[in-house]
Amino acid sequence: MSATLEESMLETVHGMVAVCRMADLEPGWGEAAWLEGTQVAVYRTEGGEFFAASHHCPGTGAKVMARGILGDKAIAGTRVPTIACPLHKEVYRLDTGDCLSGAAPALPIHPVHLHQGMLWLEKTP
Ligand code: FES
Repeated sequence: MSATLEESMLETVHGMVAVCRMADLEPGWGEAAWLEGTQVAVYRTEGGEFFAASHHCPGTGAKVMARGILGDKAIAGTRVPTIACPLHKEVYRLDTGDCLSGAAPALPIHPVHLHQGMLWLEKTP
């Protein structure tokens, strides 16, 4: 199967890679995936939004973030999607990676693009 023009643009101009089908992700859960040799966590919220982050917890480096707990938090009157690490429960914004529960470093976030039922991620956050 040959790539479409838009897929070629995503790869060459924007440095993006297709990692999985949108349908592979269950609402309210995350999964670990490979992004050119790096472990990433991909999420589909109950509301149908898609996000991607490093699979490594910024606090310890543990490869656990795909098994985190999805949620949201009101910030300045807006609901912001969050992920809580399953080990020590630090909470991170899924839109920016900022830690909301402490002074931990930010969680690296990979920008997501949806195209023809596939989830595309930028190689470097
Ligand atoms: S390992 Fe993630 S918060 Fe401690």
